Amino acid sequence: MTADTERRSFLKYLGAGFAGIVAPSAGPLGPIVEARGAMPFAGEQSTTGARSFLSFAPIAPTDRDDLMLPQGFRYETVLAYGDRFTNSSERFGFNADFTAFIPRNAAGTEGLLWVNHEYVGSPTDAYGQAFAAVVGGVPNVQDMKFDVGGSVVDLYLSSGGNWYVKPNSALNRRITADSLVIADGPALQGVSNVGGTLGNCSGCHTPWDTVLTCEENYQDYVPENLVTDGQGTVGGVFNKNGTHFGWVVEVDPHDPNSIPVKHTALGRFRHENVSIRSAANAPVIAYMGDDRTNGHVYKFVSAAPYVPGSGANKQLLASGRLFSARFNADGTGQWIELATGTTLNPYPGSQMPTIPSGATTLGAVYGGSQGNIVIDAYRASNLVGATPTGRPEDVEVHPVDNSVYIAFTASATAQNSLFNNIFGELVRIVEGSSDGAGAAFTWQRWRAGGPNDPAQAGHVFAAPDNLSFDKAANMWVVSDISSANLNGGNANYTAFKNNGMFFIPTSGPQAGSAFQFASGPCECELTGPSWTPDETTLFLAIQHPGEVSGRRGPGVVSPRGSNWPYRDHGVPLPAVVQVRRF
Ligand code: FEO
Ligand code: CA
Ligand code: CA
Ligand code: CA
Repeated sequence: MTADTERRSFLKYLGAGFAGIVAPSAGPLGPIVEARGAMPFAGEQSTTGARSFLSFAPIAPTDRDDLMLPQGFRYETVLAYGDRFTNSSERFGFNADFTAFIPRNAAGTEGLLWVNHEYVGSPTDAYGQAFAAVVGGVPNVQDMKFDVGGSVVDLYLSSGGNWYVKPNSALNRRITADSLVIADGPALQGVSNVGGTLGNCSGCHTPWDTVLTCEENYQDYVPENLVTDGQGTVGGVFNKNGTHFGWVVEVDPHDPNSIPVKHTALGRFRHENVSIRSAANAPVIAYMGDDRTNGHVYKFVSAAPYVPGSGANKQLLASGRLFSARFNADGTGQWIELATGTTLNPYPGSQMPTIPSGATTLGAVYGGSQGNIVIDAYRASNLVGATPTGRPEDVEVHPVDNSVYIAFTASATAQNSLFNNIFGELVRIVEGSSDGAGAAFTWQRWRAGGPNDPAQAGHVFAAPDNLSFDKAANMWVVSDISSANLNGGNANYTAFKNNGMFFIPTSGPQAGSAFQFASGPCECELTGPSWTPDETTLFLAIQHPGEVSGRRGPGVVSPRGSNWPYRDHGVPLPAVVQVRRF
């Protein structure tokens, strides 16, 4: 379908009654234009005038090999894979994911951007192509270890309103799968260096101004080590101890000499993310998802209270209680503590360790050790009757009412599953206690993914992944339909075209309605949306363009493969971009 026919069909849908512009303050329906955002900002622009993202004309889904934005918006690359940006000429890592903008001054002209680098591929795929193009040669294991982890990028705002990397800043930093990283909490005690971080998917910016980065698909690099005795083995592509990965890691981006800390009290699993709820002088609550088929949703409640301004806040995640969610069909739910005294109540048919004869508690399965329980949190959750779910991705706390939104990206396969929508869904949890620390909650399916309906193009999504709330409590959702399923790879997903970003109000007459804001290049997902405090710049990572088909050259037919961001049949590169009005 050409862009023109896309536009016509979308306008036809608009004509069927859709209001068109998503903010009440907006003017009458404007033309729907697939603004090509490819060009860098045309020189320095004035910062005066409306910069808000809260009024835009939604775009239609598209399979164009570009970051497509509504009329009036432009993007510019901040850093792409391989860019040398630290004082020792270290390169920006591969497959950027979560980003967090961390202000450094009140004027809003300086800030740090934390960026996760989730995963690498092989020498023969898009990763190998990118490595050959920007580094040279064939990547070896040391190269792969360097290309995951995270980056701290020191940015400044130009007079024209663009963010640029500050050259020669001592704050520019790479953290890799070989960096010195330590651990606290009940597991890995006595390990002086856990050996770097990897699989860094999503995360959060804490109220105490550090960053949490989450280790997701560690099993691709090290042994999964689902064990009851806490004893890991060394192996995998990265030849490291498997129990040292699958954790939440805290980084102080302001101190280039700070040592990242893995907080084992928050459990070991395929950590998509963590989101923090905090109030002065109350325990902090961390919500997390285990992104595996039949994975669980978790809550951590700190032992110590959050005290604004206190240096002790960096120890808040070292000690507390870990819970796993049970979702009941009637909309009620319970947080079940993963603790030695918790009674066994196995979820039928789920993956569990052997239960010793006569054992009735988690402690009896795990040698009485909380450290052993948190290392095997996925199976421990099944042992106590937590609910296997449809791959929980991001979990975010609503900034106004503290309700908790979860992006389930796919269906589950568990017996009697409550999560059967192949397009995924957004679920909302309301805690039963006002401080959020209690065991009871209620839940509802807030917004379902799908259907695969071209007539609703621009208003349906599939495979929701990262969530981000703006200050007005609107939700921004990015989608992660697998590259194999996109654009006819699987007929269930044709209407969605490339992965995109959607705006969903959480209150008002349009609450729960989705409006497409962006569409990514081919075979990519958009990840890690974050905002400057004034919400005039959106940072977004373009992850794995051309993931399956690599560089689109002779023999590769669009929309397979990608040449983003440099085109001219170039090798696709993951990158972080800034998006703003022009
Ligand atoms: Fe790395 Fe679950 O997305
Ligand atoms: Ca993700
Ligand atoms: Ca992904
Ligand atoms: Ca995903």
